[in-house]
Formats: sequence, structure tokens, C-alpha cells
Amino acid sequence: MKTWIRRSLLGLATLALLGGGAVLVGEQLALQRSQRHIDVNPQPVALRSDAAAVERGRYLYTSRGCGDCHGADGAGRSFVKADGLHLAGANITRWTGCARCATASSPTARRCA
Ligand code: HEC
Repeated sequence: MKTWIRRSLLGLATLALLGGGAVLVGEQLALQRSQRHIDVNPQPVALRSDAAAVERGRYLYTSRGCGDCHGADGAGRSFVKADGLHLAGANITRWTGCARCATASSPTARRCA
């Protein structure tokens, strides 16, 4: 076999090995990353209802565009409601639970189990 053909085949085989190795290493790294466990320790936040806090909340609600989706009063707003499709900003005036997470024993679950 001619030398240049042999060298080309050797080069291609080396590239294929390196590519396969890169895929295997990438898969292992992705697997490790997807299985890592991060401890999160959420702290309860005190609910403030003094006038200054309420005014600050009102300012943030209006200035950050929350009302664009949740309505000026927070009662929710529908954008599309047709053919079984309903796109809406949720009613956030009171906690009603998470419909996706709710179970018979916990109808107002905050998180999916
Ligand atoms: C682009 C539209 C949009 C904007 C802007 C928006 N929201 Fe929402 N928000 C939604 C939608 C849609 C949901 C429902 C998500 C779901 O059910 O998974 C939601 C859910 C919520 C919920 C949870 C309600 C519940 O019962 O689960 C809260 C609280 C909330 N938004 C507060 C805010 C605040 C505060 C702002 C402004 C800083 C804001 N949102 C801006 C669309 C929006």
C-alpha cells in the first residue's frame, strides 16, 4: 500500500478514536452533572403588611410589568381562550395551590412531590 494512503488511513483512524473518546468523556461528564445533588436550604420570609411594605410592593408590581399578565388588580388576565387552549396570567390575589402539583390529600400543594 502506498505510504500516503497508509498515513491517511492512520490519520483517519486516529481522528475517529479521538472523536469517539471525546463523545464518551462528554457523556460521562454530562451524566455526572445531571446526577449531582445540590442542597438548598430555603429560609422562610416574613410576610410584612405595614404601609411602607405594601407601597413598595405596589411600586414593584406596577413598575415591573406584573400587571401586564396578572391584570392591574392581580386577579389574572386571559390572552387566548379558544379550542381548548387557554393562555392566562394566574390570579395571584390569594394562594390557590399549584394545579399541577395538587393531589387528593393536598389540594393546595405548593410543590410537586
Ligand atoms: C409574561 C407574563 C407574566 C408576567 C410579566 C408576570 N407573570 Fe407571574 N405568572 C405568569 C403565568 C403564566 C403564571 C402561571 C404559571 C404556572 O401556572 O405555572 C404566573 C404565576 C405567578 C405566580 C404564582 C401564582 C400561582 O398561584 O401559582 C406569582 C406569585 C406571580 N406569577 C407573580 C408575578 C409577579 C410578582 C410578577 C412581576 C414581577 C409577574 N408574576 C410577572 C405570567 C406572568
